[in-house]
Amino acid sequence: MTHPIIFDTDPGIDDAQAIAIALRHPEIELLGMTTTYGNVDVETATHNALLLAELAGQRIPVAQGAAQPMVKERHPPPAHIHGANGLGDIALPPVQGRAEGVSAAQFIVDTVNARPGEVTLVAVGPVGNLAAALQLDPGIIDRVKRVVIMGGSIREGGNVSPVAEANMFNDPDAAARVLTAGWPLTLVGLDVTHRCVLTDAHMARIEAGQGALGQVLAGSFGFYRDFYREALGIDGCCPHDSCALAWLLRPELFTTARGHLTVATEGDAEGQTIFAPEGRGFIEARWSRTPLVDVCLGVDGAAVSDWIADTLA
Ligand code: RIB
Ligand code: CA
Repeated sequence: MTHPIIFDTDPGIDDAQAIAIALRHPEIELLGMTTTYGNVDVETATHNALLLAELAGQRIPVAQGAAQPMVKERHPPPAHIHGANGLGDIALPPVQGRAEGVSAAQFIVDTVNARPGEVTLVAVGPVGNLAAALQLDPGIIDRVKRVVIMGGSIREGGNVSPVAEANMFNDPDAAARVLTAGWPLTLVGLDVTHRCVLTDAHMARIEAGQGALGQVLAGSFGFYRDFYREALGIDGCCPHDSCALAWLLRPELFTTARGHLTVATEGDAEGQTIFAPEGRGFIEARWSRTPLVDVCLGVDGAAVSDWIADTLA
């Protein structure tokens, strides 16, 4: 089976790894990429998305989107994690192509409506583009096949606050809308991405297999790995965004639970994803009123990490 997808992204080193999978995997039809601020500003995100596709020898539509959160002030991009250029500050070749003449939100709406019931939205950055698409045309809720989001944390705790994952924290108001919209949705959060480690040995295979694209993936990997060594004490990096595609293509490597999500939009818990399992009663009903979704709780992390390397080798 082939999955037609739109990949919503803020590349970003782990985004770049996932984009390579989206470009190369024979079971993915990459209809386009939509870009957002997050790891970098949105112009840099668009530049990097165009560049990565060109390095793979492909012309993929790229539509630029959100430059800032819906409500809150934007935090500066985390240059200490992804580099100021989003790709580990390695030297990059020039880009030939340009972004589409429509916004990311319009691109999502038009593409979903052109192929009702077929298109999966895979979002691996702050989800403002999906929130804007919902605002443009709420009818896409019934026409999208599924929404897969790298973001959030159910039991793992946060990575940018004690409770919040970065993509949710960066635009909690957008996340609150997108995670409760009522479309078929799977959350691939830190509970599983922190169990996956892409190592030097994996990246050596990827570099050997991906030509010019592999050089950028391998060059940027060192910067990201050094951050993870320091921050988590692991010998490699967490390939967060590739895990969303791994769930789509290899769901048997994951365990999931069904339930209701609430996103905290203010205060100390800002960006936290609160999960109420289906059928479980709490003192009040408020946590169980949102539509049912699926969240990832477990993963065979070694198998997912090997799958990433095998796909790109
Ligand atoms: O928390 C991990 C997420 O934040 C990933 O999408 C990574 O690219 C960063 O943006
Ligand atoms: Ca990302």
